[in-house]
Amino acid sequence: MKFGYFDDARQEYVITSPTTPLPWINYLGCENFFSLISNTCGGYSFYKDAKLLRLTRYRYNNIPTDTNGRYYYIKDGDTIWNPGWQPVQTELDSYSCRHGLGYSVFTSTKNELTAELTAFVPLNNNCEINRLTLKNTSNQAKDISLFSYIEFCLWNAVDDMTNFQRNFSIGEVEIEGSAIYHKTEYRERRNHYAVYAVNTAIDGYDTDRDSFLGAYRGVNRPIVVEQGKSTNSKASGWAPIGSHNINVTLQPGEEMSYVFVLGYLEIDEDNKWEAPGVINKAPAKEMLAKFETNEQVETALDELKEHWTTLLSKYTVETNDDKLTRMVNTWNQYQCMVTFNMSRSASYYESGTGRGMGFRDSCQDLLGFVHLIPDRARERIIDIASTQFEDGSAYHQYQPLTKKGNMDIGSGFNDDPLWLIAGVSAYIKETGDFGILEESVPFDNDESKAQPLMEHLRRSFNFTRTNLGPHGLPLIGRADWNDCLNLNCFSKTPGESFQTCSNFESGKAESVFIAGMFVRYGKEYAELCKRTGNQAEAELVLAAVDKMYDAVLENGWDGEWFLRAYDAFSEKIGSKECEDGQIFIEPQGFCVLAGIGVKEGLAEKALNSVKERLDTKYGVMLLQPAYKDYHLNLGEVSSYPPGYKENAGIFCHNNPWVSIAETVIGRGDRAFEIYKKTCPAYVEDISEIHRTEPYVYSQMVAGADAPRHGEAKNSWLTGTAAWTFVNVSQYIIGIRPEFDGLVVDPCIPSDMPGFKATRIFRDATYNITVENPNGAQKGVAKLVVDGQEMSGNIIPFVDGKKEYNVTITLG
Ligand code: BGC
Ligand code: NOJ
Repeated sequence: MKFGYFDDARQEYVITSPTTPLPWINYLGCENFFSLISNTCGGYSFYKDAKLLRLTRYRYNNIPTDTNGRYYYIKDGDTIWNPGWQPVQTELDSYSCRHGLGYSVFTSTKNELTAELTAFVPLNNNCEINRLTLKNTSNQAKDISLFSYIEFCLWNAVDDMTNFQRNFSIGEVEIEGSAIYHKTEYRERRNHYAVYAVNTAIDGYDTDRDSFLGAYRGVNRPIVVEQGKSTNSKASGWAPIGSHNINVTLQPGEEMSYVFVLGYLEIDEDNKWEAPGVINKAPAKEMLAKFETNEQVETALDELKEHWTTLLSKYTVETNDDKLTRMVNTWNQYQCMVTFNMSRSASYYESGTGRGMGFRDSCQDLLGFVHLIPDRARERIIDIASTQFEDGSAYHQYQPLTKKGNMDIGSGFNDDPLWLIAGVSAYIKETGDFGILEESVPFDNDESKAQPLMEHLRRSFNFTRTNLGPHGLPLIGRADWNDCLNLNCFSKTPGESFQTCSNFESGKAESVFIAGMFVRYGKEYAELCKRTGNQAEAELVLAAVDKMYDAVLENGWDGEWFLRAYDAFSEKIGSKECEDGQIFIEPQGFCVLAGIGVKEGLAEKALNSVKERLDTKYGVMLLQPAYKDYHLNLGEVSSYPPGYKENAGIFCHNNPWVSIAETVIGRGDRAFEIYKKTCPAYVEDISEIHRTEPYVYSQMVAGADAPRHGEAKNSWLTGTAAWTFVNVSQYIIGIRPEFDGLVVDPCIPSDMPGFKATRIFRDATYNITVENPNGAQKGVAKLVVDGQEMSGNIIPFVDGKKEYNVTITLG
């Protein structure tokens, strides 16, 4: 069952029913000011940091679900309704929500009145625009009362939810004309305020929530709206809101537009006050002046659309499969960009108050996003590397505002360092910018300890190389990519749980997954050494990589698949000898994509085992059999009920690893089959089962052991976005940046007749046509660049050349 459809021409998903199985959201904002917006107008806004600089209040886990947002109440006679259906939930005569790239449009009708609400964050401006157009389609004049509503958050979102003894007394606002200013804490710790304004004279306002709603009422039936008259309340403590009232008479056929702006302003200390106690409004007025007219708003919206068109033109395909085309050209890249911006902070599953930027998460996000805005990838790399410790290990997370490592979580996730190599190498392949390796970057944000970025990579590599366990495999530490596999969590103290365990540093548990990473990214690091003239280091690195390769074959192979790990007692994890958790997905995918066991024929065996033991119709599960009982010595993994999350859920993030691994051994049919199973556009038809947005990936789909097999959770902010894009764009479609140029090496299903692609790479445009006359799955039989036949599958990069016309024949 579907709740909407893709409008590919406009690059929108059109939701046609407000009662989607879960809120289906979109993100507004590209740089500093962001908003989340659901298909019923729910969500909230923040500036840079969703925890510390939250503009509007959101109620998590609320009932009814998803109530708080930017709401517009239309009172037409006795009928009160909202263009986004919530919060009044009046049945609408028609409804649609179009989520586009950085904007959302709600179009609804009730009793021959049409409302169209367009929401977006304009480029280079710290505000959200809500343009509301009302049109009377009846043949009688209508008297309409319109009320806007947002609820301010007192900036720090955690304090806002907890520190009521203080908060109920600090709220402050100013009202001037049609603008409501939220200035809580401005007199003291803040250098900023928010403004919520409309571009027309108003008939009244409210800034005090209780006055607007009335006692014991919810946002679904504000008393002010019912009575049709604002109270002109001035918030003093309690809960400041912004609400405008506009009364208008619309003649038959007449329409009227209003532009509401919610903005964030920062004021320097010297200019804080206009008069004693009166905030300096000049910067706000300057911002509002930019969005006073419909034309200005149209122009800003066009600029935003243009921005996205330019961005997404860097990689486009034309295939015979609409679902594939739309995911590659639009939605997968869009999600990569959003995930890069948000890391794991703010979604409908991440509260925006918890995690900062993840070291491994951000490095992986880079892989899917780097081609879009390489400069921002560069900046991010420097930020991430600046939090690394001198011994090469890393803070697991850092705070986006301070860019400092998060001490509470600390380090100990032993896969983290190697992801830095992955991110840097992807950046250099994309841009050719080897200069970044010479950039001086501090350790632990201490400038006195700055070293060239290349030295950071060396320490990353050496951290793993020098932290090996009894089988010559990397020590896992607190966990590797799988946060929940905490194998050093054994305890001699009865009653201790994985949450309280503290001895992971001394444990000798080992990870076959990190071994796979070491082989893959060790080779990339060696390549960087060679290309920067350090042959000796390259040789040392490659020798260590070879040794690891052998260690995996010797101690990391279980007969039919790769082992997952050794625990703290050197017992096997992910082996046929185990009762549960006999096979794990991660090492099968990652060892093979690192090339381990390919020539020995083990790769094929491992991937066949994945198909046999982990596959389901909704994707490949993380492990099997699911852990039935809780085992403290395995850590968090077995704390989940079977089929959920890391305990045998379909963890979408590592499905592409297996798909890439399939391309390594040339099985295009199978690679594509795996790709399709978790790909949102292909599961749109079963939205009632899948439940999350059919235009973006979710972190997890419930596995076969779960009662709700096929149900997804945690949409939007997941490494799945980057890895599926790497998979589909670089391995299936097969257009992959390498140091010397663009490689074209597709691995597609045999029934795909070919495709066309356009790739903008280092400022040159590549027009690529791939033909598949003989139903091949992989292998370039013929490569023609600008009429000239060449050998191999790489198009050498020629400095200054702006266009390449490439034809490839598979066979
Ligand atoms: C959660 C995992 C999750 C991880 C994210 C853990 O505490 O329980 O399931 O993937 O945090 O870092
Ligand atoms: C989500 C985390 O953000 C990511 O870092 C981790 O690798 C996966 N969960 C798997 O545990």
